[in-house]
Amino acid sequence: MASPSSFFGIGIVSILLVLTKAKATVPIFVLGDSLADNGNNNNLNVPLLDKSNFAHNGIDFPGRIATGRFSNGFNGVDYIARFLGFPIGPPPYSTTTELNQMLRGVNFASAGSGIQDYTGPGTINMTTQIKNFQKVAQLLQQALGQNRAEHIIATSMFIIVHSTLDVSLQSWRKEFLYSWYRTSRLCTIPNKPKSRRDLHRHIEPAFYEVQHNCLSESESTEFTASRNEIYSYSNIYRMTSDIIENPILFGITDVQNACCGNGKFNGEVQCTTNVTYCHNRNDHFYWDWFHPTQAVYKITSQMAFFDSLIYSTPISIQQLVMGI
Ligand SMILES: *[C@@H]1O[C@H](CO)[C@@H](O)[C@H](O)[C@H]1NC(C)=O
Ligand SMILES: *[C@@H]1O[C@H](CO)[C@@H](O)[C@H](O)[C@H]1NC(C)=O
Repeated sequence: MASPSSFFGIGIVSILLVLTKAKATVPIFVLGDSLADNGNNNNLNVPLLDKSNFAHNGIDFPGRIATGRFSNGFNGVDYIARFLGFPIGPPPYSTTTELNQMLRGVNFASAGSGIQDYTGPGTINMTTQIKNFQKVAQLLQQALGQNRAEHIIATSMFIIVHSTLDVSLQSWRKEFLYSWYRTSRLCTIPNKPKSRRDLHRHIEPAFYEVQHNCLSESESTEFTASRNEIYSYSNIYRMTSDIIENPILFGITDVQNACCGNGKFNGEVQCTTNVTYCHNRNDHFYWDWFHPTQAVYKITSQMAFFDSLIYSTPISIQQLVMGI
């Protein structure tokens, strides 16, 4: 095993925020994977790997609760919600029953899932996450009437945190890129990487191409031209690379060892009660073998939110919210 370079670090990927004609404290609906999940997998029959509702996760969360976030504390969705004036991100779909809760937004994310449904079998795949959102939309409609419900949804923010697993786990299959990135002529990935280390080496040029040639051009034109939505695309790969290259600038001193884990770089096993954790968690990049610490979730959320277009395109989240 090369390093604890996590899927996050290799991180292909993307927070995509879409906002339709919204104001500041709008409902937030979240679709995504373990970087965004806050408890939807807790009662699912999935491998331990796709769960985190046990110590030492959550050790810095208010009340030291292991909610199902893959973090020592908050995750990135929580921080974006906080910058928007909420105390915390929206609750997980699995525990959301009250209309009042739904009006503030719902988190549908499921650790292990991908943009493609065949990524992460057994997790709540993307199609199901979207269906779950539709169920919430229907409930809102029944309770509030169609016009009011439509207005609420049309003025909501959607946070989509996805793709890391599609690419890092299995989607070196060409059809992934061809079917999901529409200008895929530009987007083939040269060779299937053989090891994690290899993956890291291949992924940057490949994804630079995907993101810059494919996503930002095709998707942005399509979004703005054909729909009523505006969006902000945050390049997590670029953010985490910058932190790893210049950690001191960001107050981080350890970008190699996971805080909670065991084995080489503390990155060979999952964070559970059976392993130890570090005390200087704010100095660490990695909380566990795949996920960042709350400190890094905060830094990257700040980058995405307040960014002057180094990491976000075509606008930052703040501009997304203010421009409405
Ligand atoms: C997606 O999830 C649904 C519901 O669990 C399941 O029926 C479907 O087979 C899944 N799709 C894939 C490709 O795994
Ligand atoms: C912790 O260790 C015990 C004893 O070896 C084992 O039975 C248990 O499954 C382990 N728990 C986890 C979460 O790995």
